[in-house]
Amino acid sequence: MTSTSLRTHSCGELRLEHVGAAVSLCGWVSARREHSQHLAFVDLRDHTGITQCVVDGASDLRGEYVVRISGTVVARGPEHRNPNVATGEIELHDCTVEVLATAEAPPFRLDDRVETDETIRLRYRYLDLRRAEMQRNLRVRAKVNSAVRSAMEQQGFVEVETPMLIASTPEGARDFVVPSRLKPGSFYALPQSPQLFKQLCMVGGIDRYYQIARCLRDEDLRADRQFEFMQLDAEMSFVTQSDVLDAISTTVRHTIQAVTGNDIGEIPQMTWREAQERYGSDKPDVRFGMELVELTSIFAETGFNAFKAPCVKGIRVPGAGDTSRSRLDDLTDRAKRWGAKGLVWMRVKGEAGHVEVESPVAKFLSEAECASLAATLDAEPGDLLLLVADERPTTCHVLGLLRLELGRPPVTDGGLAVWWVVDFPLFESIDEATGRPVPAHHPFTMPNDEDASIIDEVLAGGDVHRLLEVRSQAYDLVINGWELGSGSVRIHRPDIQSKIFRLLGIGEEDAHEKFGFLLDAFRYGAPPHAGFAFGMDRLTALLAGEENIREVIAFPKTQTGSDPLTGAPSDLDPAQLHELGLRLLPPTS
Ligand code: AMO
Ligand code: AMP
Repeated sequence: MTSTSLRTHSCGELRLEHVGAAVSLCGWVSARREHSQHLAFVDLRDHTGITQCVVDGASDLRGEYVVRISGTVVARGPEHRNPNVATGEIELHDCTVEVLATAEAPPFRLDDRVETDETIRLRYRYLDLRRAEMQRNLRVRAKVNSAVRSAMEQQGFVEVETPMLIASTPEGARDFVVPSRLKPGSFYALPQSPQLFKQLCMVGGIDRYYQIARCLRDEDLRADRQFEFMQLDAEMSFVTQSDVLDAISTTVRHTIQAVTGNDIGEIPQMTWREAQERYGSDKPDVRFGMELVELTSIFAETGFNAFKAPCVKGIRVPGAGDTSRSRLDDLTDRAKRWGAKGLVWMRVKGEAGHVEVESPVAKFLSEAECASLAATLDAEPGDLLLLVADERPTTCHVLGLLRLELGRPPVTDGGLAVWWVVDFPLFESIDEATGRPVPAHHPFTMPNDEDASIIDEVLAGGDVHRLLEVRSQAYDLVINGWELGSGSVRIHRPDIQSKIFRLLGIGEEDAHEKFGFLLDAFRYGAPPHAGFAFGMDRLTALLAGEENIREVIAFPKTQTGSDPLTGAPSDLDPAQLHELGLRLLPPTS
């Protein structure tokens, strides 16, 4: 596959078995080392590797020149073999060199071992891509794409492409918008996901849809977030939640196996409630312990005011008893910023079987309370214990963040811990100002059948806070504490949909304006349907062993959303603005 009209082999291909062959290689000059007055070693590089060529009269060959070298494959003497390079047992002799293109000196060293400022790397991304690491990452990405496609196709999913210029989708981030020239003053939104279109595909009888879809969201960028990213997006008809979990599990398992060779086996499930109670997160990182431990009942009769709370929990940080006072103060400040009223820390002293706790608040606690909390936390001498008392969600949230802060390994360490988190709540909170529930997902998410009666009770005048108990048929896939994807069973029945809209305070007119076309479609016979989407960039980063999705995207944006290579975002020509009917306001800050 590597031979072309210009070359017989790639630069990573030649071995002892090729000795004696006349070959031609093409690539970039990676390094040149003088050997004698006339002879030089030239390392020729392409995406497959490097071949050492012994060249006579190479003095005008500079780094990154594009050359074609023809010569004979020769075995290196045993003392000159390089076991660190795949082609290290051979070299090319009797070389003739043809310069295909000269090159200026690159602005940074194209060497994986050298750290280069990211803005420079992105400014010259085409040079950065020549590095072995980027070559490998983009090839991992292509493999992920191909494995995902074949797994979806094997399961009968049909690829359908959905439009990029659309009306807004309800995914909850800010839209990127595109002005319309033919209808000045009107705008298209770029899709935050193909959500509504894939549901329309179900009404259209497609049955099983998938797409590797580009999605755009104007939100703050982080290690696992870009403005534009790719989703494996899927939707299925005549299914329940378990059918979707099975199909997506098959695809994820197959893809991981295709890329890493490892079978992760069945993907286990945990409920959202359990994830909160044990890990204080809806995307639990289960690669390490330090789980949240329930201590509420121990303090049922406590005299310590701070612990007279609906929920007391703690975590044990093994061996961290010598954490400095300033670090503990810092952790306390963070806990407060995250919403706690305070943080109790305890150093575990004594000896195994007879531990004692040392803490500024120990004097407020009874001996029985201290003994019981130490036993419940399995405390051992040398450990640090951290306790929070508050409303249950706050306690879990804050301890969950402390757990990550103190124990989380890099996201690429320790293999892949893949979990389904199921039974998400339908509503995230109650907006006390409006008395309305805030949906946890989009408003088409199906409530759990068993909790439907709560909705009816609230609509009949019951306490709106009871809605927080309503579970939904929504689920996430989590790997190493990253949310890989989300999905849900959708509401396909108008009666249930109108109840949800009523709870959310979305009037009929409002609903019609926002999602009228979907609601209309549902009037013409919607099958029960459900779906899922996962982030291709995130999966690729995890499989390539990268902490940041930018490393697996050919041309990503910087943290501030710009592209130093092309200069995007950039000014528009006044004529273009005029044509679009746009006039710019002066900058506000
Ligand atoms: P959701 O909004 O959870 O669900 O998105 C699904 C997955 O897409 C990835 N993702 C991102 N990746 C990189 N950069 C971003 N800015 C970004 N935002 C999201 C994540 C995320 O889990 N339509 C629903 C799915 C459904 O219900 O079928 C949706 O888009 O990995
Ligand atoms: P205070 O009684 O507010 O002086 O707090 C005494 C200690 O308990 C301080 O170390 C606080 O950080 C801690 N503390 C106060 N409230 C809480 C709480 N709700 N949960 C955990 N620790 C708390």
